[in-house]
Amino acid sequence: MSQAHLGYESRVNLGSYYTPPEIVNIAWQMIAPYVRSQTTIIDSACGYGDFLRSCGQAITIGCDIDETAIDVAKKNNDEVRFFQTNALCDVSRTKFGIPKQSHLIVVGNPPYNDRTSLIRHSIKDIDFDIDQDIASRDLGISFLRSYNKLEADLICVLHPLSYLIKPTNFRLLKEFTANYRLIDSLLISSWKFPESEKHTPFPIVLALYERDTQGMKYSFIRSFRFRIAGKDNKKRAAPIKNQQGVMSIGDFCFSDFDYITGYVDKYPKKKQPTYNDSLFFWTMRDINALKRNRTFVESYSTNTIVIDKRKLDYYAYVDVFKRNLHRLPFYFGNCDVLIDDNLFKQYKSVFISDTVRHHAFLKKHFQIKLIDEQQTTSGLDTYFKLLFTEHHV
Ligand SMILES: C[S@@+](CC[C@H](N)C(=O)[O-])C[C@H]1O[C@@H](n2cnc3c(N)ncnc32)[C@H](O)[C@@H]1O
Repeated sequence: MSQAHLGYESRVNLGSYYTPPEIVNIAWQMIAPYVRSQTTIIDSACGYGDFLRSCGQAITIGCDIDETAIDVAKKNNDEVRFFQTNALCDVSRTKFGIPKQSHLIVVGNPPYNDRTSLIRHSIKDIDFDIDQDIASRDLGISFLRSYNKLEADLICVLHPLSYLIKPTNFRLLKEFTANYRLIDSLLISSWKFPESEKHTPFPIVLALYERDTQGMKYSFIRSFRFRIAGKDNKKRAAPIKNQQGVMSIGDFCFSDFDYITGYVDKYPKKKQPTYNDSLFFWTMRDINALKRNRTFVESYSTNTIVIDKRKLDYYAYVDVFKRNLHRLPFYFGNCDVLIDDNLFKQYKSVFISDTVRHHAFLKKHFQIKLIDEQQTTSGLDTYFKLLFTEHHV
């Protein structure tokens, strides 16, 4: 079994969730066309070394901070140079004996976890130094920055999609995004990793980056067409094969949709006056947070938005959207609530009837003739099918 030598706490702290073989194979299909006889391939968080294979390259390097993992990896691969060391400290090609001029490919699944939420009492396992220029709260961000420091020519790694699509994360990757450009990607559900099955799935991207002085801007990511792995939507056409033989079931682009951001306040304002008849709504982060959180709430707290009543219809929209999240596949997890405003205007009475049915105290705030339950159900079904198009589950 993967990472079997580690207890629960160490797995969490080291971000040790080994990659299923089918995903390793896809990564190899992606990099194979770029591997040359002078190429060096490195996985600097290699675990048992499952990403390391030979494909005509000169040198293969595996590194992990975990001593037992490296011992197992050495038994599995005798053509690989292994290092049991912290890949985020004193990062340089020299550290791994990689010649300055050699063509370098990074492959693997670096850990991603927030260092501030580590399980503290086994801190000794993870209390390692990180070079100041690549330090970040999130280990995965530090790993991406370390590849830039190694001046890798090509990078094929798994990481949360949120690194690219959340503007705050994207900004944290400034040096990285100045030097790399996404050239291929496959979206994978975190449920592909057995230990994540208990939690809400989040999107992981298997990303292929090429070193490129043009870099990439946030707008490049918003209009990038991410390919989708898996078969979570039976209505889709047969899987599509690209030139490298990588299968996907279609693609997904953020700028294909409009989002609720422009219509409501997502976060509480600094000074929010409240009145006897104020209405409150829970802070909105992204779709996965909406899954866990409430919508309309009855009392004020630091996490509540005081609703601007001129926008009440749109808050009702989000409330109904929450009850329809089962229609969306995993890769929307980090997006804001989607909306088609023109279509919403046509279906508004359906949305308001549904909201009032679930929150009777809202009735007096809407001057609208409510429609019956059956019509509401079919109206919502039509709206969401038109909104999500081929993504509708
Ligand atoms: C998600 S696992 C990936 C293992 C393997 N590449 C795979 O996908 O099967 C992340 C690995 O990173 C290692 N790791 C965590 N922090 C590290 C660090 N600072 N330096 C090197 N390895 C580290 C963990 O020990 C773990 O083996």
